[in-house]
Amino acid sequence: MPSSLAARPVGVFDSGVGGLSVLQALRRELPHEHFVYLADSGHAPYGERGDAFVQRRTLAIADFLHRQHGIKALVVACNTATAAAVEPLRAAMPGLPAIGVEPALKPAARSSQTRHVGVLATRGTVGSGRFDRLRQEHAQDTRFSVQACDGLAHAIEQSTGEPQSSEAANERIRTLCARYTSALGSFGQQPGEIDTLVLGCTHYVFAREVLRTLVGPGVQIIDTGAAVARQTRRILEQADALATGPVAEEDPATTGRVTLYTTGQLAALQAAAQRWLDLPAQCCAALPPAEGSL
Ligand code: DGL
Repeated sequence: MPSSLAARPVGVFDSGVGGLSVLQALRRELPHEHFVYLADSGHAPYGERGDAFVQRRTLAIADFLHRQHGIKALVVACNTATAAAVEPLRAAMPGLPAIGVEPALKPAARSSQTRHVGVLATRGTVGSGRFDRLRQEHAQDTRFSVQACDGLAHAIEQSTGEPQSSEAANERIRTLCARYTSALGSFGQQPGEIDTLVLGCTHYVFAREVLRTLVGPGVQIIDTGAAVARQTRRILEQADALATGPVAEEDPATTGRVTLYTTGQLAALQAAAQRWLDLPAQCCAALPPAEGSL
């Protein structure tokens, strides 16, 4: 494990492959950092489970990444886990900077012209006290229409599996996106219409094209990847832990390494990493046997 703080990896985790959308933004913003990603696909989706379950998983994963990889910070690349578990995580591991993600209500309220914003997120996120407070904070002159999207993150997980099941999953993604966007209301630039759509779950970024065809070209679709990456940079800078370039003796590479683990099917993670991040299969590894019960 590298001794200097700057050379240590940043941990990133999600209930599954959704957090790869955040990892993509992190790699763009912080090209010299090493990242260790854990997809908890064996326990996904989190969005339709209780807080206690999500808290247990978050603490177990943070412990694994800290113990096995000496991470210098942890990005909770999951809105649901942030809502349920980022505070308990900070209390349990006060020495580990934890960066959470939350639906981008603030930028959406700032840029909506019709003052009507649609939000898609998991049941866990929209039912949380954290989301409620966020919504109230920005509700003065903006109307938020909010939809919990049961089944959508699960279908996106399935879409990276075997070709046959992934075709069925893609069909399910189209059906669910159509159902949930029509439940939000009508989209467009006319008064009263929704002109801004917030993707409040990191998985939904991978359904952006389907959503785009449903809401039309003029609607702004916002996710949080880039903002979270900038926040991670700030946190690392404050901690004097930012990797600013190749660390000659320790690692001659000019860009950081990425290692991905899953508690689910390795082949599905490899397919997702290749398809969405253009990462070779060798970046993905099975969990060490001793961590089988993670
Ligand atoms: N990707 C997650 C989020 O941002 C959760 C999806 C799920 O497991 O339900 O909320």
